[in-house]
Amino acid sequence: MSLRHFLKDDDITADEQAEILRLAAILKADPFADRTLEGPKVVAVLFDKPTLRTQASFTAAVAHLGGYPMIVDAKLAQVGERESVADTARILGRQAVAIVWRTYGQDRIEEMAAHAGVPVVNALTDDYHPCQILADLMTISERKGDLAGLTMAYVGDGANNMAHSYLLGGALAGMHVRIGTPRSHPPREDIRARAEAIAATTGGSITVTDEAYAAATAADVVITDTWVSMGMEAEKDSRHGAGSPFESFSVTPELMAQADPAAIFLHCLPAYRGFEVAAEVIDGPQSVVWDEAENRLHAQKAVLSWLLERSAGAAG
Ligand code: NVA
Repeated sequence: MSLRHFLKDDDITADEQAEILRLAAILKADPFADRTLEGPKVVAVLFDKPTLRTQASFTAAVAHLGGYPMIVDAKLAQVGERESVADTARILGRQAVAIVWRTYGQDRIEEMAAHAGVPVVNALTDDYHPCQILADLMTISERKGDLAGLTMAYVGDGANNMAHSYLLGGALAGMHVRIGTPRSHPPREDIRARAEAIAATTGGSITVTDEAYAAATAADVVITDTWVSMGMEAEKDSRHGAGSPFESFSVTPELMAQADPAAIFLHCLPAYRGFEVAAEVIDGPQSVVWDEAENRLHAQKAVLSWLLERSAGAAG
């Protein structure tokens, strides 16, 4: 056994992703079936960026598993300023059996993982949001069955963490992933290449287009995300205002009408009605966003349990 982390979607294989999703479904049906953290063992949970769902769902997840969530106040800890990321990792790794962190650069969470000695889980970085994608895949499979072969269309900011994680996580699941995004905001080239390589082994495919309607055509799943990700607040006016590059990448009822009639709509939240999604869509019958938000809990319990079971060196 070696230490495992979940820092990006493709830190796990396709089979491992399927295994985690199966475990998540078991834990949804029987919330206290897994007591991996009984003791209680401690999981450190830190946020350098705002949070609602992620803090709530990780707190509940750790409690359900029999453990204690140690919410570390990032304003007090000032990771990387008052103390280096590496030293913070060494400290927390002696107290906790796992570390969950939401931060900015991917390099920061990689540094944490390199020095913690316990599994580290990415609760969102500038580059990826892998826990959200597991919850989304769980939600899709609840409604649509087998993920492999389904078409998932993400319409919006193709250069953000969610787009990158859909590319990788969707490819691992054998899905056809379409990204509809303005030419000015394409996914990162190296991430797209990794997703294409994965899709070639799982039967999935990757399409990036600047035609929102083409992305959505006959899709089984339509997804969007805020046009103003955390950390990009300075660009809010240009992204939300007149002349925004995203103006024609809004999920409206007309765009949903291009998708399969039985298509479902997902959004990781928080949502900005009237910008990336129309109220009629997110509050309408095709929307599964509340199941999606709930499934964060089940998916993250599965991730924590799975990582701890597979990781040597995790503190007892
Ligand atoms: N792309 C968004 C996701 C929020 C869960 C952000 O990074 O703010």
